[in-house]
Amino acid sequence: MDEVVFRSPRKKGRIAVLLSGRGSNFMAIREAVHRGAINAEIALVLGNKAEAPGLLKAREWGLETVFLDPKAFASRDDYDRAVIGELDKRRIDLVCLAGYMRVLTPALCDAYRHRLVNIHPALLPAFPGLHVQQKAIDWGVRFSGCTVHFVAAEVDMGPIILQACVPVLQDDTEDALAARILVEEHRIYPEAVRLYFEGRLEVRGRRVFVLGLGA
Ligand code: GAR
Repeated sequence: MDEVVFRSPRKKGRIAVLLSGRGSNFMAIREAVHRGAINAEIALVLGNKAEAPGLLKAREWGLETVFLDPKAFASRDDYDRAVIGELDKRRIDLVCLAGYMRVLTPALCDAYRHRLVNIHPALLPAFPGLHVQQKAIDWGVRFSGCTVHFVAAEVDMGPIILQACVPVLQDDTEDALAARILVEEHRIYPEAVRLYFEGRLEVRGRRVFVLGLGA
């Protein structure tokens, strides 16, 4: 078996959520933190869109928020350097991408290697990228779902932490399938974050083992 390259820490963690829009996954994580299911606090919600509903909600809830305007930076490298600065300043243990629609630079991926996770609305490695629910319908796959994974430099890749499956129905529309998948996203994203801070995620090669599940 591949050797262990990473084991998640068992500690009270400091989470940053990065988002661009609605923020329903952020809200699911926040709800799990709130009821004590996740041993962590949300120390930062950072957005790249001033009016993102998720960012506005975070502010309303009294969480620390930062809006970084992409137009204020000369390059993606400069932008992500500023993101790293905001994360480092708050000693963030885990960055959760939650509908954050920017491709991360290798510098950010490297700086937060194994401390950066994402949710994607498909069963990776099938259907990376955008409009993936429509792509699943167009391909005629019988099942789709969602994936929580560690972020590596390639888009929507990196070791898979949890997945959940939903059926694709014959008369599905993009919206109907997206809604069915979203229910599962809200279940497995908080679950993955919980496992992370229980010190139960072990990365070997490109596989993630969940410790304490039995053989
Ligand atoms: C979610 O469906 C998430 O999986 C997807 O964006 C949506 C954000 O919704 N992310 C990606 O497609 C990343 N490649 P939310 O803002 O309500 O959490």
